[in-house]
Amino acid sequence: MAKYLVVYDSKYGATKELAQAIAEGLQADIANVETDPDVRPYELVVIGSPIYGGDYLESVRSFLRANRPFLAKRKVAAFVSAAAEWERSAGLTGEEDDLLFTQQEYAEGLAKLAGGQVVGARGFGGRLVPEHLDDRDRNMLEWFYRFLMHEPLKGFDTLDLEAARRWGEELAAAMRAS
Ligand SMILES: Cc1cc2nc3c(=O)[nH]c(=O)nc-3n(C[C@H](O)[C@H](O)[C@H](O)COP(=O)(O)O)c2cc1C
Repeated sequence: MAKYLVVYDSKYGATKELAQAIAEGLQADIANVETDPDVRPYELVVIGSPIYGGDYLESVRSFLRANRPFLAKRKVAAFVSAAAEWERSAGLTGEEDDLLFTQQEYAEGLAKLAGGQVVGARGFGGRLVPEHLDDRDRNMLEWFYRFLMHEPLKGFDTLDLEAARRWGEELAAAMRAS
């Protein structure tokens, strides 16, 4: 068993791929939040979530709530997969812009939610393939694109798995130095 754990959830796989790359760089165990892994044996717990509708997945939030007493005594780090930069530049009104955060801000917010001693936070890009979305997500995004971006729904792929692997290595180095 490794000393570090990466816990994540993912709807369409982007955050899962990031979690795998981070776990590889960090030489950590990896688990989906749905399997409710026991965080107690680990020195460092890295939490990951994609951003949907400006928020973390509820499964990740509820995992953090349930594990707060344990995580408070551990080192934690957090990462997100989001399209925040792309949304921020989408020409929304000033008022709505205030509700949006950068990828990095989302990651730092997630680390704070985890409690514990924060050793790192990193916002990553993500991936969106319109043909893979379920009806609810596709309808929501089609509306978003049509009314706020004035263009048809299009996908993107800004996943940087090499950056994720390097961040895992950096976390490992920070842990060794601490
Ligand atoms: C319905 C829907 C809503 C989304 N909302 C946001 C959002 O509010 N902010 C953002 O930065 N990215 C948003 N995204 C982009 C996702 O965060 C991005 O595609 C991410 O890589 C998905 O990760 P996953 O494949 O692990 O679920 C949204 C994507 C979908 C499909």
